Amino acid sequence: MKTLKHLFDRNLAWADDIKQSNPEFFSKLSKQQAPEYLWIGCSDSRVPANQIVNLPPGEIFVHRNIANVVVHTDLNCLSVIHYAVEVLKVKHIMVCGHYGCGGVKAAMDGSENGLIDNWLCHIKDVERFNSEKLEGLSEHDKLDRLCEINVIEQVNNVCNTTIVQNAWKNGADLSVHGWIYGIDNGILKDLDTCISSKEQLLSR
Ligand code: CO
Repeated sequence: MKTLKHLFDRNLAWADDIKQSNPEFFSKLSKQQAPEYLWIGCSDSRVPANQIVNLPPGEIFVHRNIANVVVHTDLNCLSVIHYAVEVLKVKHIMVCGHYGCGGVKAAMDGSENGLIDNWLCHIKDVERFNSEKLEGLSEHDKLDRLCEINVIEQVNNVCNTTIVQNAWKNGADLSVHGWIYGIDNGILKDLDTCISSKEQLLSR
């Protein structure tokens, strides 16, 4: 018997379901991908990119890590952005955070969690840079606000990559958005931080 048979059973049922309504779906998709969107989100199992915006395979290019962080020197994330922008020519990059993010909470608490604390130093930096905006808030409100502010900081980081800067310089139609998702209600919120040019980035 196959290991994790139930997952293979679910896969067969899922693929059958799609083929029932669209027999050509997978054969067409196998020939090319042309997504318009790059999603940069949290690894949290409750924040699945395609399902949240109800889009099928082929529509979103995805990068996820703990607390949706875009680090200037992270070759993994930079490679994803590079491929999405230069090869796939996506028109939109969305950084999608979520309320109640465990990574943001761990950074805020200063709890000790081992290796991941090094990664979370990036969130601690965001907290320190924005300490005035967080002052006087209850723990709950502070976590919500830091989750939002973290998204905005990561949007800035995406915009400051050489990849996005060069795309704009070359006249690409490319916007970077900041979104946040409610794991308690399934609703996405736009943080109104959309940036579509170097001028917009500099005038913030
Ligand atoms: Co999270």
